[in-house]
Amino acid sequence: MTPSAALDRSCLPRHIGIIMDGNGRWAQRKKQLRTQGHLEGLKTAKKIVKAASDLHIPFLTLYVFSTENWKRTAEEVGFIMGLVKQHLKAELDFYRENRIRIRHTGDPGGLPPDIVRELQEAGEDTRSFDGLQVVLALNYGGRDAIVRGVRRLLASLMVSPETAGSAGFIENNLNSINEARIRQNLDNPDIPDPDLIIRTAGEYRISNFLLWEGAYAEYYFSDILWPDWTAEDLYAAIAAYQQRERRFGGGKP
Ligand code: FPP
Repeated sequence: MTPSAALDRSCLPRHIGIIMDGNGRWAQRKKQLRTQGHLEGLKTAKKIVKAASDLHIPFLTLYVFSTENWKRTAEEVGFIMGLVKQHLKAELDFYRENRIRIRHTGDPGGLPPDIVRELQEAGEDTRSFDGLQVVLALNYGGRDAIVRGVRRLLASLMVSPETAGSAGFIENNLNSINEARIRQNLDNPDIPDPDLIIRTAGEYRISNFLLWEGAYAEYYFSDILWPDWTAEDLYAAIAAYQQRERRFGGGKP
């Protein structure tokens, strides 16, 4: 058990991303429906949000529903969407009390309109809060996020077809496409890259999560299923992060 007192408060990660995996297995092991696993997973998410908020972590991105998760049964998809909607409605006071801001990353275009509305309302209601910013990755895929970002960038370069076809225009604009401009066109360009990305439930994959932003993240894998995660597991992940030597491609000092 890692207590929060064991952490070095001077080098906490600014942004943590979590792939919350293992809800289904948790339920299967208890001979319950998968949906029960998601219900427990939501309770865990709230506990981890509170723990991150209490530590004054500035940003936490939670991988709630990926662009690939639509392959699940209609019943499970509907249940998760309902859970998110109900959570955003019911827990607004929790977010307000803790001055937590809710944000979204992912393609709103593919989400049910009532979920988009709920995300927008929660975002508006909490916009002015200066505490933890919780980013809900919903209908999110790292590749899709890059594609949407590049589309935005290209749209911002659009001019008349005649000018666009001219050799000078093409050359100038090709040269103007660089990492900084792609980044500026991702969903939340003001949010710093994640320092630490956690995946639970013993899987060692990225699964299309924060592909661009996670280029220099430290990864932490835990065997514990998400519904069994506690604040102490978050502290253990942060303690492990604090032992890492980050070089961002530079050599050893
Ligand atoms: C993975 O477990 C988890 C998900 C697909 C996401 C569901 C997440 C929640 C319900 C929490 C939502 C949190 C907020 C704050 C809205 P899995 O079903 O893939 O597990 P398995 O690999 O064991 O089957």
